[in-house]
Amino acid sequence: MKKFTSVFDVPDINALALKALAYKENPLADKQLGEDKRIGLLFLNPSLRTRLSTQIAARNLGMEAIVFNVDKEGWALEFEEGAIMSGNTVEHVKDAAPVLGHYFDILCIRTFPSLKNREDDYSEMFINQFIKYAGVPVISLESATLHPLQSLTDIVTIKEVLNAKSNGVVQGAKTKPKIVLTWAPHIKPLPQCVANSFAQWINAWGEADFVITHPQDYELDEKFTKGATITHDQDAALLNADFVYVKNWSTYTDYGKVYENDPEWMLTEEKLKATNSAKVMHCLPVRRNVELSDEVLDSTHSLVTQQAGNRVWAAQAVLSEILKAKS
Ligand code: CP
Repeated sequence: MKKFTSVFDVPDINALALKALAYKENPLADKQLGEDKRIGLLFLNPSLRTRLSTQIAARNLGMEAIVFNVDKEGWALEFEEGAIMSGNTVEHVKDAAPVLGHYFDILCIRTFPSLKNREDDYSEMFINQFIKYAGVPVISLESATLHPLQSLTDIVTIKEVLNAKSNGVVQGAKTKPKIVLTWAPHIKPLPQCVANSFAQWINAWGEADFVITHPQDYELDEKFTKGATITHDQDAALLNADFVYVKNWSTYTDYGKVYENDPEWMLTEEKLKATNSAKVMHCLPVRRNVELSDEVLDSTHSLVTQQAGNRVWAAQAVLSEILKAKS
């Protein structure tokens, strides 16, 4: 892999997920692969899991990882081509990115959308400008519209659970698991990244019966969801589900709005009764008793800690593929 910004950078999703699971078994299997290599983790937005799991993954491969909180510690960056920089921005990405490309062998970047201008956000200008000017492989730590490291982790976790079941813990008659992505309430407008990305990866993976459920007017961009069954009836969606992925997102069509906050959309133990004893996923951070009830998060249904733990192995698999392509 030359970069990692979406599922389209991955030639074989299952192979990459299996690699991640192999690293989980043997974290230091490739501890010399990244020797004398340096990775820069640039954050224009906050993070707990992505920041720490990617640092640990890099360390497991023998790399030196340096975190730079650009939003707090760096110069304010300009991304527009041809900008007259007489405002608040101090340094153009055209100048900063090549410098970072000199300092680092791999650059990882987290940016968020503005949620104000859909065209700007969906053009992915921030990460694309880094790719254009850095001259080294770029990994998305979440961009304006996608969160590929999270989605790879989600598939790794689903495969891990399915493997455990097929090894004799539980046997199901179905050939494909039913995976439901359900919208959940939240107090403020959130990006569509995790939902877009999850839909993109599950559709590309093709090994699930995939259903998306959300209130009216919360349709996601069809380029990510095409292939899934989409319904506004959450109860119908949950019927016989094996995995339920819970996530809030703001509106896509009338961009970045909160139209709906009905607590009825929160996933509860009662709602899970209609499922096939489903496992519940969420990327975290989660607003307890708003998006997901305590009873679900604290129950054996919840995969959220396992899922967040798997962020290390997914990141390690991606880093190792990029290091191999570079050598
Ligand atoms: N899920 C996720 O990306 O978490 P962080 O925002 O804490 O990195």
